[in-house]
Amino acid sequence: MKNRKKTAVILGATGLVGNELVNILIQQQNYEKIHLLVRRPPDSHDPVCEVHVVDFEQYYSYRELFQVTDVFCCLGTTIKKAKSKEAFRKVDYEYPVEAAKMACESGAEKFLMITAMGSNPKSRIFYNQVKGEVEESISKLTIPSIHIFRPSLLLGKREEFRFGEKIAEKASILLNLIMIGPLRPFKAIEAKNVAAAMASMARTGKGGVNIYPSHEIERIAIENN
Ligand SMILES: NC(=O)c1ccc[n+]([C@@H]2O[C@H](COP(=O)([O-])OP(=O)(O)OC[C@H]3O[C@@H](n4cnc5c(N)ncnc54)[C@H](OP(=O)(O)O)[C@@H]3O)[C@@H](O)[C@H]2O)c1
Repeated sequence: MKNRKKTAVILGATGLVGNELVNILIQQQNYEKIHLLVRRPPDSHDPVCEVHVVDFEQYYSYRELFQVTDVFCCLGTTIKKAKSKEAFRKVDYEYPVEAAKMACESGAEKFLMITAMGSNPKSRIFYNQVKGEVEESISKLTIPSIHIFRPSLLLGKREEFRFGEKIAEKASILLNLIMIGPLRPFKAIEAKNVAAAMASMARTGKGGVNIYPSHEIERIAIENN
């Protein structure tokens, strides 16, 4: 057993990337406690994980749980699922920013978060704009080490069927063959590689705000795991 000193909070642990991340962190045995803040409990969990079913509208009342070394944010939704732009913004902007503020107040060392390729607060595309805004707001906080992962299309097995993403996923199997050179950043990426890169950067002592485009995420995942 490795020397377990670190503690973590994971938001979005029931999602595609979040679930992969939980499994990787458990396997790597670097954490003595991992708090999973979820709105529905996962099917099963390892004893190192403590599951908290929380009301995200009352998020601040869980601030004591943020007294950890590392906070991972894998939260996200789609406008279709959320049913309005406001509801989407809540999950993809408000909850992550509130989490980062609680992490900052509690003295967390690292905040690691997934946004998306194309994140840009000035984008005319609402999704990219919200992702850019969340990056901008969190980067201003005085957390010693911030890591932002910008994946392209995520590949992996989802419980839920997303028609658009399924078509894109099928197309990406062929397209990935020609995604070389300047097209590399657009290549679809396995969710488990995003999780592996997050776990990997959580092990480094790198400070400041670090942003990883999709091909860089893949490189980190392959080289370090
Ligand atoms: N899909 C893609 O191709 C793609 C591409 C680039 C970037 N991204 C971004 O990557 C991140 C991870 O994506 P993913 O596909 O792993 O996400 P996912 O599978 O949809 O999981 C999202 C997580 O957020 C939680 N969540 C959603 N709505 C919530 C709400 N209202 N209150 C509390 N929790 C809520 C989900 O909980 P439940 O399990 O309870 O629903 C789940 O744990 C997201 O930020 C996404 O925008 C995705």
